[in-house]
Amino acid sequence: MTAEELRENFLDFFKAKGHTIIPSASLVPREIDPSVLFTTAGMHPFKQYYLNPDETSDARIATSQKCVRTIDIDEVGDDTHLTFFEMLGNFSFGYPKKENSYFKEETIKFAWEFLTEILGIEKSRIYATYFHGEKEIPEDKESLEILKSISDLKEIKPQGTEDNFWSLGVENSPGGPTVEFYVDGIEVWNCVFNEYTFKKGQYELSENKGVDTGMGLERLLAVVDKKKTVFETDLFVSIISKIEEISGKKYEDNQKSFRIISDHIKAATFIIADGIIPSNVKQGYVLRRLIRRAIRHGKILGIENNFTKDIAEIVISTYSNMYLELKENGNKIFEELEKEENKFRKTLAGGLKEFEKLTAITGKDAFNLYQTYGFPLEMTEELAVEKNIKIDKDEFETEFKKHQELSRTASAGQFKGGLADTSEQTKKLHTAAHLMLAAIRKILSGDIIQKGSNITEERLRFDFNYPEKLTKEQIAEIENIVNQKIVENIPVEMTEMPKDEALKLAKVSFDPAKYGDIVKVYKIGDFSIELCGGPHVENTGQLGKFMIKKEESSSAGVRRIKAVLE
Ligand code: ALA
Repeated sequence: MTAEELRENFLDFFKAKGHTIIPSASLVPREIDPSVLFTTAGMHPFKQYYLNPDETSDARIATSQKCVRTIDIDEVGDDTHLTFFEMLGNFSFGYPKKENSYFKEETIKFAWEFLTEILGIEKSRIYATYFHGEKEIPEDKESLEILKSISDLKEIKPQGTEDNFWSLGVENSPGGPTVEFYVDGIEVWNCVFNEYTFKKGQYELSENKGVDTGMGLERLLAVVDKKKTVFETDLFVSIISKIEEISGKKYEDNQKSFRIISDHIKAATFIIADGIIPSNVKQGYVLRRLIRRAIRHGKILGIENNFTKDIAEIVISTYSNMYLELKENGNKIFEELEKEENKFRKTLAGGLKEFEKLTAITGKDAFNLYQTYGFPLEMTEELAVEKNIKIDKDEFETEFKKHQELSRTASAGQFKGGLADTSEQTKKLHTAAHLMLAAIRKILSGDIIQKGSNITEERLRFDFNYPEKLTKEQIAEIENIVNQKIVENIPVEMTEMPKDEALKLAKVSFDPAKYGDIVKVYKIGDFSIELCGGPHVENTGQLGKFMIKKEESSSAGVRRIKAVLE
């Protein structure tokens, strides 16, 4: 099956079930949701309909939505991660009052019918999960009963909030238990039943219930065609053969670089088509990172001349029937890629030469690579990992801030990636990081200190000393404590005081000599106290819902957590 057939099958199926088919919304949800950089799920454009169903005349909608998720951008290159993907989804609003609305029964039956009858997936390959209830939210018995009534479903697995509860977690947003369908052990379809509204840190039952489902097209296609990875589907093969042609190298021998180039240039093509150009702020900076990283990986494959435009051409032809904006903006896409590539190629070789001379990377070095050679910090970090050399990121941030003060260019959002980015979401994540560190000390050990951190608008990444992998229970406990502190609505207080006094109050990770004589101390009730430059929010109640997305090893004796506020 081709991607186009699969997409069409999905939309036709739901059209026949009375759904209005709406074209994908922009990747850049400017008006709809200024708090997120990109559209990350099919439901984003319809968020307000869950609470106010009268705002739409449609009780049933289905879409194939363009999405960009950057939380795992550094993992692209393995078998499963992508930054750009399409989410197939069906939605319903205003249940039970709104005419034609539906809820759990129809959702589950539609999903089963589509997977088994339309796609013809053998029933023995499919199992489902449902929410077994946790904390104040009860078990989703209704979904369980409906799943039980499907005679050939292989298995029904109960799971908790981490897996089977979905919510945006921001004030006044919908959320609820989910039913997930798995094929060959791979999660393909997430069906969310929005029966709650998140208000002041709590989930309240909502008057209007709704349905939000999401199924990654690339992954589904791989599963249907029994392909080992998404890169073997027709959404990637012509891009990959173009890279083979340009580089003269084989995909099999260079999978990581091929995958990074194809995913990143695809994402870049779609982002430019939606009106963003490379820059040092917000979406523009993400775009710049994507393009520059792809160029660097092109260089690994021996590509010395501009090539991103040629890849974009294949991306456009692969998707042109579905996403008309690509062809319409073709010239702009080529122009912007060409400009960015010309710019970066001027400094890339020099920067790499400079990098080769280093045996450890100080903040000054990383900053110099950024400032003089245009290397995004994340790229320097990736190079450092490849060469197995240490990078001092905290010092880099200090250098960066110093430079900003000197050049008086300090402005919000100058550099996304833990630096001088004072957008609301970043501030929240900074405060969440303090709560998390305090929770980690409570659960694991009082001796834990921060070993590094990197905060973007999408997520926080936090490294700390601990010798073992955290258990699921420990992770859940840390989350619970942080969410409890959020619910408690605690003011975040800042005091400036002499360094010596502050060092008696708080544990620090860095050489105290690095701090100035007067330091800022941030205190969250009697729960957390840290020396920190800030910025932070005023009250923990502003944070939303805290979730740990990943816990992994960062280096020997150091664990890394990625977490989000939703
Ligand atoms: N909104 C749900 C998700 O993103 C369907 O998984």
